[in-house]
Amino acid sequence: MSIWLFIIIIGQVSALSYNLPKFCSNASWDLNAITFTNISTVTGAPLAIFINTNDTIYVVDRANNKIQIWFNNSIGRTQTIHGNFSASFSIFVTTNGDIYVDNGAFNHRVDKWTLNGNISVSVMYASTPCFGLFVDTNDTLYCSMYLLNQVVKRWLNDNSSTLTTIAGTGTAGNTSSMLHNPCGIYVNTNFDLYVADYFNNRIQLFQSGQLNGTTVAGAGSLNTTITLNGPGAIILDADNYLFIVDYLNSRIVGSGPNGFRCLAGCSGSSGSAPNQLSNPATLSFDSYGNMFVTDLGNSRIQKFILSTNPCDEITSTVTSTTTVNPTTTVTSTTTENPKGLLENIIFNITDKYF
Ligand SMILES: *[C@@H]1O[C@H](CO)[C@@H](O)[C@H](O)[C@H]1NC(C)=O
Ligand SMILES: *[C@@H]1O[C@H](CO)[C@@H](O)[C@H](O)[C@H]1NC(C)=O
Ligand SMILES: *[C@@H]1O[C@H](CO)[C@@H](O)[C@H](O)[C@H]1NC(C)=O
Ligand SMILES: *[C@@H]1O[C@H](CO)[C@@H](O)[C@H](O)[C@H]1NC(C)=O
Ligand SMILES: *[C@@H]1O[C@H](CO)[C@@H](O)[C@H](O)[C@H]1NC(C)=O
Ligand SMILES: *[C@@H]1O[C@H](CO)[C@@H](O)[C@H](O)[C@H]1NC(C)=O
Ligand SMILES: *[C@@H]1O[C@H](CO)[C@@H](O)[C@H](O)[C@H]1NC(C)=O
Ligand SMILES: *[C@@H]1O[C@H](CO)[C@@H](O)[C@H](O)[C@H]1NC(C)=O
Ligand SMILES: *[C@@H]1O[C@H](CO)[C@@H](O)[C@H](O)[C@H]1NC(C)=O
Ligand SMILES: *[C@@H]1O[C@H](CO)[C@@H](O)[C@H](O)[C@H]1NC(C)=O
Ligand SMILES: *[C@@H]1O[C@H](CO)[C@@H](O)[C@H](O)[C@H]1NC(C)=O
Ligand SMILES: *[C@@H]1O[C@H](CO)[C@@H](O)[C@H](O)[C@H]1NC(C)=O
Repeated sequence: MSIWLFIIIIGQVSALSYNLPKFCSNASWDLNAITFTNISTVTGAPLAIFINTNDTIYVVDRANNKIQIWFNNSIGRTQTIHGNFSASFSIFVTTNGDIYVDNGAFNHRVDKWTLNGNISVSVMYASTPCFGLFVDTNDTLYCSMYLLNQVVKRWLNDNSSTLTTIAGTGTAGNTSSMLHNPCGIYVNTNFDLYVADYFNNRIQLFQSGQLNGTTVAGAGSLNTTITLNGPGAIILDADNYLFIVDYLNSRIVGSGPNGFRCLAGCSGSSGSAPNQLSNPATLSFDSYGNMFVTDLGNSRIQKFILSTNPCDEITSTVTSTTTVNPTTTVTSTTTENPKGLLENIIFNITDKYF
């Protein structure tokens, strides 16, 4: 069984837009992935992926400057939104359906799109691309600036355009206060920030309000973890275990009560076989706990199906600021879910840089 957690923040109804699956210690995924989509069908160069709790799948295709959206159970509707962004690195979708897209490389901003609108609004000035984007449960938008070695944020509910640096000094380095080419980021409901610190081959945790991070995986971690080689993305599950896209090792690694292990792309070499990846960039869970990986080097999106998650006992995680209600048990599936057909949002790009 897998579980959905709907987290209701006291004082405001604020569900999470992304899936927080709960796994058993011995959960496993099929070693051979299903290719969800590839270059010959719709996706030119899949880089960033986001899956919401409705299992709507959003993928940034940076070669063709568009975002593709697959709706669960939709039948072949195609939607086109015209826009102008280039070489986008990241995407995040909030519970109200707003789509935040990196548009830093050439237009120096983060854009917000609404699903049915044809216009975007700029929500952040970004002098360089955001390799990671995140919106926390307090409507704060985070951008990890790979080139500037820092993570910045702004609150979306005021009109101040001021950016606050919350991690990294702006100088590349490997001390606790420094980052070196930060990529993917993740912010949990306690506002703790996790950063895939790419060049330092480590995952840094910056607890809320702290400018000094601790290494929770990879080079220099206090505990024995796992060797990372260019981590590109980091997401968590319901128990705050880490799931890391190990870009240069072309694999996905994860943690659990028994420590770290390789979960996908574990053959020892990169490649295009169903059990291999080639420079995977990002990872997202669907509501069943399946892992979707943008397999950049192979220009495809791979779906690793959760094959066993045998513990039945459901225990809710409750933090000091949140209550969990209700918990809905979803029967896990070991077969391909017949998801909806492609609903395609094409951002009309007049300039091509790729
Ligand atoms: C996983 O662990 C549970 C108990 O925690 C056990 O009942 C089950 O047999 C294990 N499954 C596998 C596939 O190892
Ligand atoms: C891409 O997908 C199509 C349709 O599923 C398939 O026929 C084709 O062989 C795939 N191409 C590659 C390069 O995997
Ligand atoms: C997605 O589609 C499946 C199969 O049609 C359905 O069982 C499931 O409830 C749908 N999920 C959502 C979140 O709509
Ligand atoms: C999820 O699906 C429900 C039911 O179809 C819909 O009301 C809701 O707006 C959807 N949420 C998002 C974020 O698309
Ligand atoms: C589109 O973006 C390019 C930079 O990528 C910019 O030069 C151009 O002015 C933009 N066009 C519009 C209509 O915003
Ligand atoms: C967006 O553009 C499409 C195609 O031009 C049009 O059919 C649709 O009505 C537009 N939607 C909105 C909300 O303006
Ligand atoms: C949300 O962020 C704003 C701006 O930083 C802050 O004033 C407010 O206290 C925060 N609210 C919560 C619940 O953290
Ligand atoms: C932000 O600016 C808009 C337009 O000037 C204004 O309508 C709105 O009230 C402002 N919001 C806040 C929170 O100041
Ligand atoms: C942060 O770490 C530096 C060393 O890298 C240390 O000098 C400083 O005191 C630490 N700051 C805090 C608040 O712990
Ligand atoms: C090291 O492992 C212990 C025990 O699992 C844990 O409590 C602690 O948070 C870990 N420290 C770091 C920096 O990951
Ligand atoms: C940090 O950088 C210094 C100097 O480049 C190097 O000697 C040290 O081994 C690095 N530490 C880690 C944990 O990689
Ligand atoms: C894309 O935008 C250009 C310039 O704004 C416009 O001329 C063209 O018709 C648009 N293409 C589509 C398919 O809407």
